[in-house]
Amino acid sequence: MTFAINGKEFSESPRAGQCLRTFLRELGHFGVKKGCDAGDCGACTVLIDGEPVHSCLIPAFRADGHVVTTIEGLAADGGTHSMQQAFLDAQAFQCGFCTAGMILTCASLNQAQRQDLGASLKGNLCRCTGYRAIEDALDGKTNIEDAAAGGAFGRSLPAPAGPQVVRGAARYTFDTTIEGMLHIKMLRSPHPHAKIISIDKTMALAVPGVHAVLTFEDAPDRLFSTARHERDWMDPDDTRVLENVVRFIGQKVAAVVAETEAAAEEGCRRLKVDYDLLPDVVDPAQAIAPGAPLIHSDKTREQRVADAQRNIVAETHGEYGDVAAALAQAAVTYEGTFTTQRVQHAALETHGGLAWIDPAGVLNVRSSTQTPFLTRRALADIFDLPPDKVRVFCERVGGGFGGKQEMFVEDILALAAIKTGRPVKLELTREEQFIATSTRHPMRVTVKAGADKDGKLTALQLDVLSNTGAYGNHAGPVLLHACGESIGVYNCPNKKVDAVVAYTNTVPSGAFRGYGLPQTLLAVEAAINELAKGLGISPYEIRRRNIVKPGDPMRSPPGSGHTDVLYGSYGLDQCLDLVERAMQAEAPNIELSNDWLIGDGIALTMIDTVPPDGHIADARISLREDGGFELTVGTAEFGNGTSTVHRQIAATALATTVDQIRLKQSDTAYGGHDTGAYGSTGTFVAGRATQAAAESLAGDLKTFASDATGIDPGSCVLENDSVICGKQRLSFAQLAEMARGQGKMLRASGTSEGTPRSVAFNVQGFRVAVNKGTGEIKILKSVHAADAGRVANPMQCRGQIEGGVAQSLGATLYEEMVIDDRGRVVNPKFRDYHLPSFADIPRTEVFFADTTDSLGPMGAKSMSESPYNPVAAALGNALADATGIRFTAVPFKPDRLWPLLHEKFGSKVGS
Ligand code: FES
Ligand code: FES
Repeated sequence: MTFAINGKEFSESPRAGQCLRTFLRELGHFGVKKGCDAGDCGACTVLIDGEPVHSCLIPAFRADGHVVTTIEGLAADGGTHSMQQAFLDAQAFQCGFCTAGMILTCASLNQAQRQDLGASLKGNLCRCTGYRAIEDALDGKTNIEDAAAGGAFGRSLPAPAGPQVVRGAARYTFDTTIEGMLHIKMLRSPHPHAKIISIDKTMALAVPGVHAVLTFEDAPDRLFSTARHERDWMDPDDTRVLENVVRFIGQKVAAVVAETEAAAEEGCRRLKVDYDLLPDVVDPAQAIAPGAPLIHSDKTREQRVADAQRNIVAETHGEYGDVAAALAQAAVTYEGTFTTQRVQHAALETHGGLAWIDPAGVLNVRSSTQTPFLTRRALADIFDLPPDKVRVFCERVGGGFGGKQEMFVEDILALAAIKTGRPVKLELTREEQFIATSTRHPMRVTVKAGADKDGKLTALQLDVLSNTGAYGNHAGPVLLHACGESIGVYNCPNKKVDAVVAYTNTVPSGAFRGYGLPQTLLAVEAAINELAKGLGISPYEIRRRNIVKPGDPMRSPPGSGHTDVLYGSYGLDQCLDLVERAMQAEAPNIELSNDWLIGDGIALTMIDTVPPDGHIADARISLREDGGFELTVGTAEFGNGTSTVHRQIAATALATTVDQIRLKQSDTAYGGHDTGAYGSTGTFVAGRATQAAAESLAGDLKTFASDATGIDPGSCVLENDSVICGKQRLSFAQLAEMARGQGKMLRASGTSEGTPRSVAFNVQGFRVAVNKGTGEIKILKSVHAADAGRVANPMQCRGQIEGGVAQSLGATLYEEMVIDDRGRVVNPKFRDYHLPSFADIPRTEVFFADTTDSLGPMGAKSMSESPYNPVAAALGNALADATGIRFTAVPFKPDRLWPLLHEKFGSKVGS
């Protein structure tokens, strides 16, 4: 068999049944990615004879006699193809996992195909960008700027890894091989609830190439939570690496470790497991009812399970004032119950990693994680290892969205590496991602609200039932967050919360962008609109009369005592103005028949810029011999842009340019600590640590230059890669040389403990058209205003907002994990789940409030997760405005809308 890959002749023979994607990766073409292995995502796109194909669907032998081009060979002689350059100019990527495939498809389009990008790009999914920047690349737009020395902060500088990303040279978790590596496959439970009586390994161990079968008998008998938080009290200890009780379909039962994935899979098939089936419950309301089967009956409050005898993992109850009395006296009231569904993060890179023990006896884990330092801590605890004998690090991570603030694979990797003494790899499939990682918490939210005749809120009450699935990772903190800022943003003398999280025999829920707020906002923001409607005032006006303003307490019962949340800046009023103006601006006329109803809707959100109770980040920076700087931080890059922002902060503080800042990050071997890249803390917390380190070093440079020149340090300033003392200019390179001559290192460190915290704000507006005959929705206008403080990198921040809105639109309109009555996920594939593609996402106009935060680094606030939060609520309000019907369940799919539309408009359709 002969074929040409990127202009080179090959005569290798693929293995029987091997797909082209695997074959190419085994030849070292790591730009060919795996996102689904089912032809649904396009991450594996290559060109065959110039035509884009999904290489996961092509048997490798079919390449015989053809010319194959991967991203690494798109440009001649290792240069940059015009499409790669267009993606760089527009910065049409975030995590970059989809980018190689996307570029190859875009590069192959002819003029006719470019006229219909919705159809032409339907085979390439991007979970991060919302596609607007990709369209910009195809339109030849430039979104990047440059910056003079000291002027980096606030400029739209490109991501440092951009050139590697567009050429397929950026290395993600699985883009490496290790000599002698074994592969892990998991046997997963087919039962929602069962006790494992025995596991017969004999037949599995007889499979050629199988090295080990690991079961609960081989794993440490230690409870922990897969959730990673700085403080253990936040999550229940209810999970083991492997255990003898399974609580959901998909839970890991055993790990087979083998020379090849095929042998490991065959080993899994040959395991004989004897289960004793236990009663199960998949509905959260039934789970907390008397007599329900108990899912964690052995757990107690000591393991931080609130009431194991009622399947309640966490609950919160409290009241300010007297809500019942206030509702009785209100001029207008509203009550409604809303339900939200399970949705998946769907990061294109699945969970997984590699582990090995190095000659110094250190357990190394390279994984797709947002929390390397906390994962190291957990592994050291579980396996009784000194922390310095465990190293956890990540390369570039292909999307996270909170889903990788968990330890789903690293424990198995560590166990397998320790037991076999060999390097091991575990890469979850897309199906495992759906059935065995985590999802957003589905919630049932009842809201009661009242206002007086002047439009002042007098009562706000939330009754929440959240479904954590089989394990309680993030259950309590998500609930607190959901019931916190959603009503804390409104002044109201009477507030009440009753909220419960139930265990069920279903796939666990966990951290997901927005952390509970999108669910409760759907109800709260609907209630605010309904009150406005009842009073005959605008949705903007009722919010202006009731939102908190600087000086107002941000209260929600039972009162968390978070006195460290301050108004570091305030731009919610501006956000409302910006959205109102943009929604009123003239829009192009769209011809629609009388079957289409048009309406507007808005919703707002407030979010604390840091999770509560401890989020710690260290940063260190040193002057290199060449006059540049080396910056070391713990926070990870997974498309959130921290690697760009940290260099901007350091370059600004040190009066240099970003290319002089070399960044090392997300590796416990570098020392220091970082709680993790979640809760939008990469800028606000880790950025403050970087600012502190860089400003400290700037001070040291001035002192050093002052000593060298004899000029008072107060008369020394940093400017253009130099320190200027009086009339003398000493370049950083000269200072480095002088320091070396004195045997000194010029370096500094900074720490941020994530407190005090600020608040950030977002307002989303939609204009929609709804077909009263079919339930189809068209989005005619999407407007988003954000108060991100002084925006560190406008292009990048706009991308986070567009991506957040797009991801949330998916969950608002289409995405839903369907769970059957046994708790089985029946649609664990992108094809059946409907991840939004290019054609599904409208352009969102993004505006920024003009504020500078007194608490954030250089005036910046967080802005990665909150744009997600108001989307479903704003769209629900627009639907209600268009139709007069309050739809209360997401996703707003046509078949869910149609019955109510038909009831109201049935006879008038087509008129
Ligand atoms: S990996 Fe081939 S289409 Fe997703
Ligand atoms: S940039 Fe497209 S999936 Fe992350």
